[in-house]
Amino acid sequence: MKVALIGGSGLYDFEKIERISVRRITTTWGEPSAPVTCGTLNGTEVMFLPRHGPGHRIPPHLVNYRANVAALAELGADAIVGTAAVGGIGPGTGSIVIPDQIIDYTYGREQTFSDGSQPQPQHIDFTEPYSNTLRENLIAAATSAGIPVTSTGVYAATQGPRLETAAEIDKLERDGCTLVGMTGMPEAALARELEIDYANISLVVNAAAGRSDGPITMLEIERELAAGIVRVRAVFEQLAAILG
Ligand code: HPA
Repeated sequence: MKVALIGGSGLYDFEKIERISVRRITTTWGEPSAPVTCGTLNGTEVMFLPRHGPGHRIPPHLVNYRANVAALAELGADAIVGTAAVGGIGPGTGSIVIPDQIIDYTYGREQTFSDGSQPQPQHIDFTEPYSNTLRENLIAAATSAGIPVTSTGVYAATQGPRLETAAEIDKLERDGCTLVGMTGMPEAALARELEIDYANISLVVNAAAGRSDGPITMLEIERELAAGIVRVRAVFEQLAAILG
């Protein structure tokens, strides 16, 4: 079992990975966001790829999601966990959520490996966008690490890079969304196209637009990220122990 971690905002390295080799890969779809760190963690073979590149240079709408997922597939990933810093529509700031559903509001992104070169277009089943086995393992990992976790949620994937208006958040809430972030899609669907189990760990770093007094500031987001990302790391470490 090889499990890959795609690190979102605030997660640019994973120092606890041992016996490291760094793999620079070029895929049919171009370059992934960074070289992939491969190694072992708590007895499991793992890989790490920072979604936004070293030093967070690549904004959400410019990430080469196809190259990232294809590179991890090429390196033999059986499962991918994507982390995300998100706005909370339901759960409060600081919450860790393992969403079970997603709604895609992004546009203009390369959303599929199905580029017309194959005889049949690929209509993947996406009723359950995340792997329930991997979600359950993440929930078990959080629980055994003593980290409170919200075990369901509906992730709204917005285009960004701007944050939302208050009315947009009201609309997302009416749609049933509980979290809002910019990177959940097309990553999840691309993993499904390649038949790789995929799940997401979301860390709520701010109340969504219009859900708190005043504007959302990067200072607030960075403070919450710094405080919360240690728990996201701990969940992945425990996941590796469970799978190992
Ligand atoms: N909206 C969208 N993406 C985000 C947010 C938000 O409020 N916070 C962190 N990523």
